[in-house]
Amino acid sequence: RVPTVGIDIGGTKVAAGVVDADGNILEKIRTETPDKSKSPKVVENTIVELVLDLSDRHDVHAVGIGAAGWVDADRSRVLFAPHLAWRNEPIRDALTSRLAVPVMIDNDANTAAWGEWRFGAGRGTDHLVMITLGTGIGGAILEEGQVKRGAYGVAGEFGHMQVVPGGHRCPCGNRGCWEQYSSGNALVREARELAAADSPVAYNIIDRVGGNIADITGPLITELAREGDAMCVELLQDIGQWLGVGIANLAAALDPACFVVGGGVSAADDLLIGPARDAFRRQLTGRGYRPEATISKAQLGNEAGLVGAADLARLVARRFRRAN
Ligand code: BGC
Ligand code: NA
Ligand code: ZN
Repeated sequence: RVPTVGIDIGGTKVAAGVVDADGNILEKIRTETPDKSKSPKVVENTIVELVLDLSDRHDVHAVGIGAAGWVDADRSRVLFAPHLAWRNEPIRDALTSRLAVPVMIDNDANTAAWGEWRFGAGRGTDHLVMITLGTGIGGAILEEGQVKRGAYGVAGEFGHMQVVPGGHRCPCGNRGCWEQYSSGNALVREARELAAADSPVAYNIIDRVGGNIADITGPLITELAREGDAMCVELLQDIGQWLGVGIANLAAALDPACFVVGGGVSAADDLLIGPARDAFRRQLTGRGYRPEATISKAQLGNEAGLVGAADLARLVARRFRRAN
């Protein structure tokens, strides 16, 4: 029952934490995600540095990684990642040899779903769909205690379903992807656009960043919305509405009992989830004649991915000990 390390690699931040067997975070550290233009090795080095730092103060027996990318069926490679430098990278083996402990790698939304199912809002449910709103949209399907991966490992890439034909360009290469309308990036893009257009509705936020539009971030928009800033409230409503529409589509396809919404943007709570629930109820096919899934906020918040990764690493390490 020793603690393990969980790492969440997103498009903006890399967080690493020591997590005990009950899902409690004993220590957490974080750093910026290396720029996409850097070599894949740089992300790998960042992970190694974080683990070595934690190893100074903790016994690290296993490392679990939730990465913002497409992990292959045998969970050894990151095939592709819209927000990271990795292309067909054999991350698991590279890190296992550098860290000399068992390493587990999975998609970040998959580890978040696992974290919420084990310790958070998904406890006790057999049919859960996880949506994480961060740089992009992450997705995961968890049924009867198992993450569904599809034939090739990449099931649950909901963020890249097209919701607007010919819409905003996405770093995945397509246009009109859901994550271009309902994510931290979408929120920031809209706020910056209004600020750049010098719209009077943006004067408050322009003032808060001293005129530096590039300093507008998701957390700032959420903060201002909480203070009642009309533009920021409205932007979160837009993101929330798109979230609800996407969730209604997923209900049509997957019919889960509950949707859990995590990732950084979920910190906006009811300012986001309220409009999402409204749009979901208006959009759900067969509404009024079918049981409706619940939509709840991730209980572990933005830490679900890290906690889930650490817990999955514990399982992998146990299997490893039995085999050796
Ligand atoms: C990626 C997913 C990832 C999600 C959240 C998406 O753009 O395609 O693999 O889970 O962002 O980080
Ligand atoms: Na996923
Ligand atoms: Zn896309």
